Amino acid sequence: MPEIKPKAPICHLEENIKASKKEASVKMKIAIPKESRAGETRVSASPEVVKKLTGLGFDVIVETNAGAGASITDDDFKSAGATIAKDAESALKSADMVLKIAAPSEDEVKKMKKGAVVIAHLAILSNKKDADIYAKAGLTTFAMELMPRISRAQSMDILSSQSNLAGYKAVLDAAGQYGSVMPMMMTAAGTIAPAKVFIMGVGVAGLQAIATAKRLGAVVTATDVRPATREQVESLGGKFLTVDAEMEKEAETEGGYAKQMPPEYFEKQKVVVAEHIKKQDVVITTALIPGRAAPVLVTKEMVASMRSGSVIIDLAVEAGGNVEGAKLGQVVETANGVKIVGHENVPGRLARDASQLFAKNLFNFIKPHVDEENKTINFDFEDETVSGTCVTRDGKIVHPMLTEQKNTKNIEKDS
Ligand code: NAI
Repeated sequence: MPEIKPKAPICHLEENIKASKKEASVKMKIAIPKESRAGETRVSASPEVVKKLTGLGFDVIVETNAGAGASITDDDFKSAGATIAKDAESALKSADMVLKIAAPSEDEVKKMKKGAVVIAHLAILSNKKDADIYAKAGLTTFAMELMPRISRAQSMDILSSQSNLAGYKAVLDAAGQYGSVMPMMMTAAGTIAPAKVFIMGVGVAGLQAIATAKRLGAVVTATDVRPATREQVESLGGKFLTVDAEMEKEAETEGGYAKQMPPEYFEKQKVVVAEHIKKQDVVITTALIPGRAAPVLVTKEMVASMRSGSVIIDLAVEAGGNVEGAKLGQVVETANGVKIVGHENVPGRLARDASQLFAKNLFNFIKPHVDEENKTINFDFEDETVSGTCVTRDGKIVHPMLTEQKNTKNIEKDS
């Protein structure tokens, strides 16, 4: 007898849809609300993705003006097959699935129906209490920032798609703030030296920043704790600044992220960087440690050692900042004339492209689970892109990064 394999667990969304289909033969509804977070310009769908979703047989409901910040009009969405809802309430109330950029507010959660699926950048590791709210509301939630870093998931990786744009924009923002030119210019009136640009943290954003600064003609140096980045920096025409080759051997997690480095490393990094930074015109910092505050890499003494007119862009400002003195959402000018730029939501400063890529990441995540025949979405919880991102399901918190911490806390309390 052939072995009968148990069917992969399926999200209760399927049952919901089947039930609602029986009742009124309605199509599965996917809502695209206008983002409610202050300053959020992006939207979680593009006309291209709406067309793909409607093509698969789903109803897509876009809240009016949802795309305004990204220069996508209601008419653009309508032409792609969406229905326009007059407000958040009418977009969300009957939605089986809600696609969002940022985590839903409590007010938005209240407007969603029990059993709805929410897919967004939930920033759940920094907002762990939100998981209780989602579980209580009976939502099945997916935190796209937790997408495992496997090659199959590259097309679903919102962190990569958004960081890439942020790295590019950081260089343009620096060029805008900088009172000199980036490339060397030889003119009849004299020669202007090229700007010296230093990139700290060579992940996705850092690599794009190196490439962009090189394209503008700057002289680029870069540093990272992960030794694998040396070759990447050099292949883009930059020079790598090593802090401590021995300690850097252990700096990378299996998932490709940086580890928290020991205090001795930071001491050494301070000395090496302090010497280098004095001579730089532009510094762009991008260093992040997942689930932790960003490491401080540029101290106020280092800022004080820089020349007047130099510019620092802190791309990690939302995670606490890599630069002492950086302020979220502000351009701070120090007493010695250095500008520290702490723009919030840098991908949102390129809202149209950022929305388009984010929307495509979400679509690529959903697509393998679409049952085209029955026009529903059956998430396969044995797929690591699903199990790796699912935060709540069936009224419970299910992500190991949240449940394990909770269990440890309970054990601590009990003992
Ligand atoms: P990230 O945004 O978490 O961090 C940015 C950079 O800061 C990293 O390169 C990190 O090593 C560096 N950093 C952390 N602490 C530092 C310190 N104290 N000093 C100097 N630098 C420090 O990283 P990101 O950009 O998300 O990606 C890291 C790597 O993951 C990428 O380079 C890539 O190889 C890999 N990746 C793989 C993907 C996949 O396979 N699906 C998708 C995206 C990235």
